[in-house]
Parts: sequence; structure tokens; C-alpha cells
Amino acid sequence: TDALDFREKAPLNAKEDMYWDKEGNPITDLSLYGQLAAGVPGTVDGMVKAHEKYGKLSWKELLQPAIDLAEKGFPITKQQASELTNKHEDFEKYNKVANALISRSTWSQGDLLIQKDLANTLKLVQQKGRNGFYSGKTADLIVNEMKRGNGIITKKDLKNYHSVWRKPVSGAYKDYNVISMPPPSSGGIALVSLFQSIEKYPLKKWGFQSDSTIQVMVEAERRVYADRAEHLGDPDFFKVPQKQLLDKTYNVNRMNNFSFDRATPSSAVKAGEIIGKESMETTHYVIVDKDGNAASVTTTLNGSYGSLVVVGGAGFLLNNEMDDFSVKPGTPNMYGLVGGKANAIQPQKRMLSSMTPSILEKDGKLFMVVGTPGGSTIITSVFQTILNVVDFGMTMQEAVAASRFHHQWLPDQVDYEPKAISENVRETLRKKGYNLKERNAYGRVDGILVNPNGTYQGGADPRGDDKIEGY
Ligand code: DON
Repeated sequence: TDALDFREKAPLNAKEDMYWDKEGNPITDLSLYGQLAAGVPGTVDGMVKAHEKYGKLSWKELLQPAIDLAEKGFPITKQQASELTNKHEDFEKYNKVANALISRSTWSQGDLLIQKDLANTLKLVQQKGRNGFYSGKTADLIVNEMKRGNGIITKKDLKNYHSVWRKPVSGAYKDYNVISMPPPSSGGIALVSLFQSIEKYPLKKWGFQSDSTIQVMVEAERRVYADRAEHLGDPDFFKVPQKQLLDKTYNVNRMNNFSFDRATPSSAVKAGEIIGKESMETTHYVIVDKDGNAASVTTTLNGSYGSLVVVGGAGFLLNNEMDDFSVKPGTPNMYGLVGGKANAIQPQKRMLSSMTPSILEKDGKLFMVVGTPGGSTIITSVFQTILNVVDFGMTMQEAVAASRFHHQWLPDQVDYEPKAISENVRETLRKKGYNLKERNAYGRVDGILVNPNGTYQGGADPRGDDKIEGY
């Protein structure tokens, strides 16, 4: 197993106070929209590195289908049509050069989205590999785009960007070996910590979304996200106490002050003491090939359509990943997540992520491949999907479709989808001091599960346009 970190980086000219006003207060939306919200892109280098190490087809062959889709267009889905229509005004605000996304103001299902600039960019990447993006014409276009706003990405930033192979995080849950993403994502450490925190409780006996099951999961989530805020950041810049955070006794002990009688208020939960501490539009897809090799990939611009800026003439959107840094200690980001020193902005640092592309093994053999978009809710959605299969006996499709709930320490509330948690159970939990809040459906979990006879079953989240394909 291997983990490829192709996370964006803060530009060389980034500063800790780059999103603050003169009084030191964060300026609304500055880390979210426009050229200054973009981190140095990592996707292209990531795909090149993945291909170098594991690719079987030629790079040229691999790029061709994407070029054809961009050049000839593809019919958009109903969801895509409504997103593009709703975002039209925002796109106009942040883009001075014409591009495919602003080519019309209203879109309908089945309209062809033709992206000529993007096709040309992809052709350069097809011909020149990473140099087709990080230098030459595409790099010029990115730097020119920066000048149209107050962006700071330079040629040097692009040239310096390299993705990194890292060692995956892994840990046991029951008979399963959970393998997931290491820092700079918080996903893998948080997921394994959640499993360690809940393993001793008989969730299976209590049942899916029963009051006790929800209490135990929420209390574990509250504690794990408190640790996320304090102890997790880019390991190249901040010493992440990974060993302790993945220590089973540590996580089991974190649950010691939980009582079934009452919710623990988040104000009473702090990040765990680290012993010897030094004085911190997402897509997911899962694939299993005919030889049983598995890939679980999460890739993201962060918010929908990222910074909303399309690089003029190059046809692709810039991310707004800079908002994943803790812009100021204690100030929530777009997902309500807080953080401190571990995830403060520093030049060349990677912003903390929640991405949790995961693979489970049972008896050393592939069991499940799973992941999702959803910002801060990614970790808890992956956590629930695995429990749905392992403890609640669901099929892969049932597990991804099942309604979900979420707690992330701060704000101190349990978010739940409209159909999650029965009325009765909600009442019981409210009496115990849980603050419950209904929210719209979130996440698009996709998974592949290996059947006992070695065949596969897929799960595609009905919340999105997700699809299963097989041979
Ligand atoms: O890396 C992260 O945690 C976020 N940038 C992920 C954003 C995301 O999942 C948005 N999709 N709904």
C-alpha cells in the first residue's frame, strides 16, 4: 500500500495574516473566492507521479478520453445544470476572461459542456507531462490570471510544486485492517482514532442509529475533532504526534469521561495532552482492477467550483484550498472547523485536509474501498459507512445510501440528515443534553465491497450523480 499526497501548498509569498484586516480580524470570503484563495495546484503532478509508479497504459492514451470530453463536450446532468445556472453571477464576478462556464447564463440537463481551452491545456499535459502545466504556456496563463486579481502564485511556486509518496496510516478495527490517508490530511488518523474509541461498545447489539449507538459515535467524534484542531497539520512543518494519536489506549482513555446519562459539552472537551510534545469540488472514486489492485482517490478544489476563478485562456478552475488553513486561531473555516498553530499559514506548507480515501483488509485480503467528498463531514461519513457494513450488516449500496449524522467538536451540535435518527431517539438524546440540528443531505460516498466468493459489489451514493460500473 502507498499514499500519494498531491495536496495544494501555500504560495511562497503567503503570510499568516494574509486574510486579516488592519485590526487583525479575518476578512470575510477572502480565503474563499478569487485569485488569492488558490493554493498551488497539486493534481497534475499527482497524476503524473501515480502513473510513473503504477501506470500500465501510456500517458498519451490515458489523457485522450478527457481531451475528447473537453473538446467535443458532454451532456451535463440535472444537478450540474442547476449548479452552473446558480453560480452564473458569481462566475461573472470573479472572471474577466471568457470561458466555458460563463458561456451561457442558464443551463439545462443534456446541454453540451464544451471546454476548448481546457482541451488545449490537457493536450499540453499529454505532450509534456508535468511541464505542460507547471512551466511554459499554462504556467504563464496561471501567473497572468493572478495579476487580474490580487493572487500571489508565481512561476517559482509552480516549478517548486511536487507531490509526495507517504506512508499510509493504518490500524485495526475488529478483524479488519483500515488503511487511509496520512497527514497533511487529518482523515486517516481521525478515522482510525474513531474506530479505536468505539471498538469496545456493542454497537451491533444496540442497532443502527439507536440512541446508545449515536451517543458513543458522537462522543468519539467530538473528542477526535478536538484533537484534529490542535494536533494536526502538514507534517513537513509541524510535528504531528501521530504515534500517540493512533495509540489505542490513548483513544480508549479519551472516552473515560463520557457518560450515557448526559452529553459531554464540547466546552469540557479539550484536545488530548501530548506526552513529550514540543513547544501545529471534491471528487472521490474507488477502483478495483481485474488483478485485484485497489485505488481510493479523493481530489478537490475545496468549495464548489473552488475560488470561482477560471484561468483565462487555460480553461480550468483554481482551487480555494487556502481556506483549509486555520486563517486565524479559533476562527471557523467554511466547514466550521477551527485550528491553531499546527495548521496556521506558512509559505510552502500544505493546508490540513479531512480527505479520507480508505482501503480495508480482512485477513490480509482486500475487503472494501471507500471514500467521499464533504469537507469536515468526510471523516464521519467514511466512519459510518464502514460501520454500516461491518456492524449493521448492510450491503455496499445500503451503506452509502443510509442517512448520516455528524459531530465535529465545535460547533457543539449533532448535525443529522432529514431521515437520520428516529423522532424517539432524537427526543431521548435532547433530554440528555445533545444539541441536534437537521441539515440537508451531505457527502457522496462511493464504495466497493468484496463478496465472500471474490466477486465485487458497488455502492454509489444516491445523493449525487454517482455511478457504478463493472466488467
Ligand atoms: O481537504 C478538505 O478537507 C476539503 N478541502 C474537502 C472539501 C470537500 O470535500 C468539498 N466537497 N463537498
